[in-house]
Amino acid sequence: MKHGFIGFGNLAKAVYQGLKEEEGMEFAYFARNRKEVDIPFFERIDQLVSFADVIWLVVKPQDLAGILDQLKEKELTGKTIVSPVAGKSIAYMERYLGEEQLIVRIMPNLAMAYRKSVTAFTTNRPGNRQAMQIFDILGKLGKAVELEESGFDLFTSVFGSGPAFILSFIQIFKDKMQEFSLPGPLLDELLLELTQGTTLYFAQNQKDYSIEELIRNITSKGGTTQAGLEYFRTHKIGKHFEGVLDAARKRSEEMSRNGN
Ligand SMILES: NC(=O)c1ccc[n+]([C@@H]2O[C@H](COP(=O)([O-])OP(=O)(O)OC[C@H]3O[C@@H](n4cnc5c(N)ncnc54)[C@H](OP(=O)(O)O)[C@@H]3O)[C@@H](O)[C@H]2O)c1
Repeated sequence: MKHGFIGFGNLAKAVYQGLKEEEGMEFAYFARNRKEVDIPFFERIDQLVSFADVIWLVVKPQDLAGILDQLKEKELTGKTIVSPVAGKSIAYMERYLGEEQLIVRIMPNLAMAYRKSVTAFTTNRPGNRQAMQIFDILGKLGKAVELEESGFDLFTSVFGSGPAFILSFIQIFKDKMQEFSLPGPLLDELLLELTQGTTLYFAQNQKDYSIEELIRNITSKGGTTQAGLEYFRTHKIGKHFEGVLDAARKRSEEMSRNGN
C-alpha cells in the first residue's frame, strides 16, 4: 500500500515513524519545502496523487481549503483520503471532492510515532473495505476507536490535545522542584520515572480497581497525600482542570463552525 503525505510536519512524521517498519508499505510526501527524511519528495501535488493509494491530508486547518482546491481537479478514483485536520468535517471535504470520494476522518495524537496514539475514526463509507484497512493501520499505531463525527470535538480536547495538558501538569511539578537546584535534565528524568511508575501502577491494576480505589491505596488517613487531595477537593482543582478540556473542545467546535 502506497501512502502519500500532503504536508510533512509533526503529525506526518509521527505516522511515518510509527509505520516505517511495516512490510508492504511505501511512503512519499509533498510539502512546500523538502525535509530531511529518507522517503521520496514530490515537487508537485499531481505526482503525489499518481503515486499514492492513501492520501494523508496533514496540513494545518487554515491550509486545507487550498489543498482541497488543488485535489478536486485530480483523478482520485479508488484512492482513500485520510484527514486528521482538526475541526474539518467530512461534509466540508465532500464539498470539494464529491460525496463519492472515500474519506476517512481521524483524530490521533503525536504518540503515533511510538504506536501509542488513541485515535478516533469515522468515514463516509462505513464498513467499506479500504476504510477498514485504515482502521486496522490506526490499530497498529495505538488504540483506534470508531466514533460518531459529533464526538470529535470532545475527543480532540482529551486525546488530541491531551498530551500537551498532561505535560503542562508535569511542568508544574518541575517548577516546584526548582527549590532543589537539580540540573534540568536530571529533573526531567526523575519526573519521567514518576510518570512511568504511575502509568505502570495504573496499567497493572486498572482491570481490578477503579481510579478512585487506586488513589485511595496511596492515601493514608491523616497523611500528606490526604492533605494534598483535600486541597484538590476544596479548591475545586478538578473543576478548573475540566475548564481546560472545555476550552479546547469549544475551540474545536468554533473551528468546525467556521465554514465546516
Ligand atoms: N500535531 C498534533 O499533535 C496533531 C494531533 C492531531 C491532529 N493534528 C492535525 O494534523 C494537521 C497537521 O498538524 P502538524 O502538527 O503536523 O502541522 P505542521 O507541523 O505545521 O505541518 C504542516 C505541514 O503542512 C505543509 N503545508 C502547508 N501548506 C502547504 C501547501 N499549500 N502545500 C503543501 N504542503 C503544505 C507544511 O509544509 P512546509 O513545512 O514545507 O511548509 C508542513 O509540512 C493539523 O491539521 C492538525 O489539526 C495534529
